[in-house]
Amino acid sequence: MWCSFFPLLLLLLLLLVSLFPVPGVSTFSHHANTDNSQPTAMAPSEAETLFKIMESMSSDQTWRVSYPNPCKPDSSWPGIECKPGLSDNFLHVSRLDFGSSLNPTCKKTATFPTLIFTLPCLQSVFFFNCFTHTKTSLSFPKLFNSSLQQLSLRSNPALSGPIPPQISSLKSLEILTLSQNHFSGPIPVEIFSLNSLVHIDLSYNMFTGTIPTQLGNLKNLVGLDLSYNSLTGSIPQTIGELEMLQKLDLSSNSLVGKIPDSIEKLKLLAFMALSNNRLGGDFPKGLSKLQSLQYFIMDDNPMFTTLPVELGMLVKLQELRLANSGYSGIIPPSLSLLMNLTTLSLQNNRLTGEIPMSFGSFSHIYHLNLSRNLLDGVVPFNASFLKRLGRNLDLSGNPGLCLSSAEAYSVKIGVGICSKNISLSQPLNNKSQAPPALAISYSFFLFGVLGVFSLQLCIK
Ligand SMILES: *[C@@H]1O[C@H](CO)[C@@H](O)[C@H](O)[C@H]1NC(C)=O
Ligand SMILES: *[C@@H]1O[C@H](CO)[C@@H](O)[C@H](O)[C@H]1NC(C)=O
Ligand SMILES: *[C@@H]1O[C@H](CO)[C@@H](O)[C@H](O)[C@H]1NC(C)=O
Ligand SMILES: *[C@@H]1O[C@H](CO)[C@@H](O)[C@H](O)[C@H]1NC(C)=O
Ligand SMILES: *[C@@H]1O[C@H](CO)[C@@H](O)[C@H](O)[C@H]1NC(C)=O
Ligand SMILES: *[C@@H]1O[C@H](CO)[C@@H](O)[C@H](O)[C@H]1NC(C)=O
Repeated sequence: MWCSFFPLLLLLLLLLVSLFPVPGVSTFSHHANTDNSQPTAMAPSEAETLFKIMESMSSDQTWRVSYPNPCKPDSSWPGIECKPGLSDNFLHVSRLDFGSSLNPTCKKTATFPTLIFTLPCLQSVFFFNCFTHTKTSLSFPKLFNSSLQQLSLRSNPALSGPIPPQISSLKSLEILTLSQNHFSGPIPVEIFSLNSLVHIDLSYNMFTGTIPTQLGNLKNLVGLDLSYNSLTGSIPQTIGELEMLQKLDLSSNSLVGKIPDSIEKLKLLAFMALSNNRLGGDFPKGLSKLQSLQYFIMDDNPMFTTLPVELGMLVKLQELRLANSGYSGIIPPSLSLLMNLTTLSLQNNRLTGEIPMSFGSFSHIYHLNLSRNLLDGVVPFNASFLKRLGRNLDLSGNPGLCLSSAEAYSVKIGVGICSKNISLSQPLNNKSQAPPALAISYSFFLFGVLGVFSLQLCIK
């Protein structure tokens, strides 16, 4: 009996062993796993650096005591991320994040921790709303190698002084965000030797001096925001070399001169803001080549020129803002081609003539401000257009404009009702620079636009 069961038992045992490997009975896959085991701790020297940084920055915890292993898998410190080293069996800090929610808060005495640049594998650093009480400045160690890709110091009112030229050591830097601090002095040319940079945001500081011409070295730059500083001089011609640029914001500085002609090379530019500077003179000849432009925001400049017909070729425009800039002459009828406009602001200029009739067929527009110009004639908007825009339509301060009584039911757009014998098909007067009848003006603009288009095609 027992003898006949023995082979069967042996078979069962073998089957079990193959299904559930027991310690000592190593299979191939098990062996491979132990070779791949992930490191679970930092090198003592790097951990010590991190303890020093945290102790100087945050009193949320007694870091060294409560969390002796900062990178402990699945329960690392808040605000840090770690990665295994490529050539050692340690974890290394790859990201440090202070000040925003869920991350360590900064104490009042926190000053900028230069030591972060000695963390060998650090890739991203974020200090948000961190240096608020104790005056401090950006500084670098004497000699260091950094693999930092993103340096983001935002909303730190006590972070001041210049950007040291040693920033040129951050060779891997792709994103530099220094917005809303109290940095001052010139923008160091060394920044423009960091040719991995993709985004630069130095907005809302107190930088002075000119925009360095070396700017053109940054062939990978996609976003450049230097707005709300005290930059002077003109926009360098070299800006045209930033052929990857999609966003350019130079608003609220003291820049002078013309928009450089080289800007026409920025084929990918989707957002251009130049408001509140001292730019003047004519627009660049190749303006219409900015075929990706969706936002062109250029209020408050002493331009004192006419609005170029080429604006109407920028057919992707969603926002066009050219208020308070001394523009004279007519509103180019070509603007009627901008069918995707949601916002058009031309208030506070010296524009004359009539509102192009086809403005009434802008189907996406929700904000139209033509107030405080010298426009005249009958407002070419029907009742449904007036109702749709409501308070977002402002035509006030144009003494020559009037509203046909049919449309003037109860709207308040700052325009009086036309006298009885004036209708849409009859111009109010003959002072207007626009052709006399609106019907003619419409076909005139269509031909005009087609003419410019074919001209463009031929020159190219
Ligand atoms: C930086 O890296 C270079 C090359 O890898 C090395 O020779 C040098 O010692 C490093 N310097 C520091 C301060 O770590
Ligand atoms: C206008 O906007 C629509 C929808 O957002 C888009 O599909 C279309 O391509 C735009 N037209 C132009 C000329 O950019
Ligand atoms: C108002 O004008 C628009 C655009 O020309 C047109 O599509 C719409 O039918 C007009 N509405 C009325 C009530 O006339
Ligand atoms: C239009 O512009 C004027 C002048 O800048 C401003 O006072 C007014 O509030 C604007 N109207 C609308 C509807 O935005
Ligand atoms: C209306 O037109 C008539 C003749 O065209 C003219 O005599 C009269 O002054 C006009 N009325 C107003 C209020 O302009
Ligand atoms: C219209 O033009 C004629 C001739 O150019 C001129 O005599 C007349 O005063 C003008 N009328 C108005 C209302 O400007």
